[in-house]
Amino acid sequence: MDARRSAQVGPTDRSPDGTLGPAAPPAAPDLLARIRWPQEDNKIPREIFTDPDLFRLEMDAVFTGPVWVLVGHESEIPRPGDYKTFSVGAIPVIVIRSADGRIGVLVNACAHRGTRLVEGPSGNVGRGGFRCIYHMWTYDTEGRLTAVSLPQDFPSDFRKEDYGLARARTETYGGAIFATFHDDAPPLRDYLAELADGLDRVLGDGALRYLGAISVIFRTNWKLYIENIYDGYHVTALHTGFQVVRLRSHGGERLVPNYERHGHLWGRSHSTPVDQLNPVLRDMSLFEVRTKPSTDHNIMVVFPSGVVTDYFDTIQMRYVVPLELDRTMIEFVFFARAEDTEEEVWHRVRQGPAVLGPAGAITLEDAAALERVQLSATARGENVVLKGTPRRFPPYRHVDEAPIRHFYQAYRRLLGFTLPSEDAPR
Ligand code: FES
Ligand SMILES: [Fe+2]
Repeated sequence: MDARRSAQVGPTDRSPDGTLGPAAPPAAPDLLARIRWPQEDNKIPREIFTDPDLFRLEMDAVFTGPVWVLVGHESEIPRPGDYKTFSVGAIPVIVIRSADGRIGVLVNACAHRGTRLVEGPSGNVGRGGFRCIYHMWTYDTEGRLTAVSLPQDFPSDFRKEDYGLARARTETYGGAIFATFHDDAPPLRDYLAELADGLDRVLGDGALRYLGAISVIFRTNWKLYIENIYDGYHVTALHTGFQVVRLRSHGGERLVPNYERHGHLWGRSHSTPVDQLNPVLRDMSLFEVRTKPSTDHNIMVVFPSGVVTDYFDTIQMRYVVPLELDRTMIEFVFFARAEDTEEEVWHRVRQGPAVLGPAGAITLEDAAALERVQLSATARGENVVLKGTPRRFPPYRHVDEAPIRHFYQAYRRLLGFTLPSEDAPR
């Protein structure tokens, strides 16, 4: 039996525009009709942040649709048997390095009666494998069932080979680990398209050193968190924090790799060297650049829910996990380069959370804004995207919000919402 079978989500179908997407579940047509999405591609109905049925549909159509979800980095699980727990949409998974060193993503549910096998954020499975607490079925690092208790009265045709853990297709790029539950997801490299060039800049050859992670729950819908990354408009308006840390961008662009289909984001900007700007705090040492002469910064979204970024000396990935309609967990993960000196590593350890951690100068401001957007989403009506939209296609300026349109086009394609025609009014 194919171990992936039970993780398969619905049949697939081709939408009228020729893109692949999961066939809509039975309730979907009603739901899609209920949410009136205007023809213009720069308008966003606020119901999509408050509708519980839509949230459930998203877990299938987006997160287990034909996409690759960023679930980790190889350096988080360096030794055989190392694992971390995660969620791909509503599916709990174990991201694991197997006994022979390969990376896999297993569904964290016993093949017998579905008990969660692993609790806690991470660990090493050790020699014993994963043993389920309920009836003591045991699995190895590949998810194969290796032992069951008291099988005497099982049907005679019971075979352990038929009861491995379900698993996602897994690929890595630059050490970043991606998983998909959908057969129609293209090879990862094709999915990433030109975003791969951006990932190369931040992730290098993949030899990053994992420094640690901090998780926080934002009281906002997951889409608001992600659209905020596509939005270059708010950066100067909201973020006084960038003035405090002396990050002054004087140019850049927002690219939308693969915008015809998946709409990733690659924002890159150039800033004035910090030592040419006046200090704002008495001690600015945390925001010095100690590891690279470059003043280029990158922020990327791997659609739908992965963020990869470098600012100053901070190398970071963020994994965005929708928990509920208005609760989203963000795991902020920090890295150093393999060749860093110990002094540089400690500088990164202190700087990363101070800028881009849950309590960092920048993140706090985003949290405040996004929670307010969520609070008033019940006001109905439409949010609107304007800055940069006279330009129809990327590249946009780094201060534009226009890329948000492409995020929602990719989203609408997966959900089955009608897409605006090319010449729709905007
Ligand atoms: S549910 Fe896991 S062994 Fe029974
Ligand atoms: Fe922001």
